[in-house]
Amino acid sequence: MPVRFVLDCDTGSDDAIAIFAATAHPDLELVAVTTVNGNVALEHVTDNTLRVLDHVGASVPVHAGAARPFMRPDFPVPRAVLNGDSDFQKDSLDFPAAVSAAETQSAVSFLIEAYMDEAFADVTLVATGPLTNIALALATEPRLAARIPRLVVMGGAHANGNVTAAAEFNFWVDPEAAEAVLGAGLREVVIVPLDATHSAPLTAADCDEYEKIGTPAAQGAAKLIRHRLAHDQAASGQAAVSTPVHDPMCVAYLARPDLFTEAVEAFVSVETTGSRTLGELLVDTRPWCPQPPNAAVALRASGEVYREFLRTAFLAGQR
Ligand code: RIB
Ligand code: CA
Repeated sequence: MPVRFVLDCDTGSDDAIAIFAATAHPDLELVAVTTVNGNVALEHVTDNTLRVLDHVGASVPVHAGAARPFMRPDFPVPRAVLNGDSDFQKDSLDFPAAVSAAETQSAVSFLIEAYMDEAFADVTLVATGPLTNIALALATEPRLAARIPRLVVMGGAHANGNVTAAAEFNFWVDPEAAEAVLGAGLREVVIVPLDATHSAPLTAADCDEYEKIGTPAAQGAAKLIRHRLAHDQAASGQAAVSTPVHDPMCVAYLARPDLFTEAVEAFVSVETTGSRTLGELLVDTRPWCPQPPNAAVALRASGEVYREFLRTAFLAGQR
């Protein structure tokens, strides 16, 4: 039976690759997508998500969600300032204009209606963007904490952040949402931080392979990975041999529970006040930690398993 899941995302390039893999892999069923402000503004996230689904001919309902963080009027550093420093995530992904449209029901309303329904009792929730939608849904309907069977989150960093030394982008964009979701007492939480995603980066050779496979999902993924390699090269001023592709790793884990080679069960929380550490994921592994573990935190992934997952998905193509 395929693993059924809902994807809450901020489509961006790696979210797009996660969608390509999710809609193609024979062991996965993408039930719905909810979109959230993150890599780009919400209207672009939703449009990019529709473009990507249309590119592979996947008919999956898309529900638009929060246009700004849970409590703050903008990012901790306003988007206009942040975007001035980077062209990494473009407003519109380079795929044909969408022909499909988002649902009229909002993401938060959809998440509440879905997870209050027994039909979603086995549907994992995967989050690859800021956790604003999920925090709003939990604040609106706290019973969701006991009804969402499993939450797999791309976010946080145990070693080095990517927005600041301490904070990873998804948790940094909306620290209050991340803290609210991780502290909500969900039944099962798996966090896929930068430590795991950086341990299994993808390369130009992988792109060569996906281009040879030639399916729309494979070719689309190759184009986006090459863009990430080129950006890393331009940013560092030296040849980028590989690049971490974060979000598909959450989806890969659903189909390949053997993906992570190192993980820790711990009490996790997110810094919401520190001037230097705002958005930091705190992983308390002290033996005497007063709080019980509330998440499994992946620390390393198998590049071989990750590539097997992507190869299987891209060879399968759109079912
Ligand atoms: O820090 C990486 C994460 O932030 C990825 O999910 C990327 O898509 C952005 O959302
Ligand atoms: Ca993302």
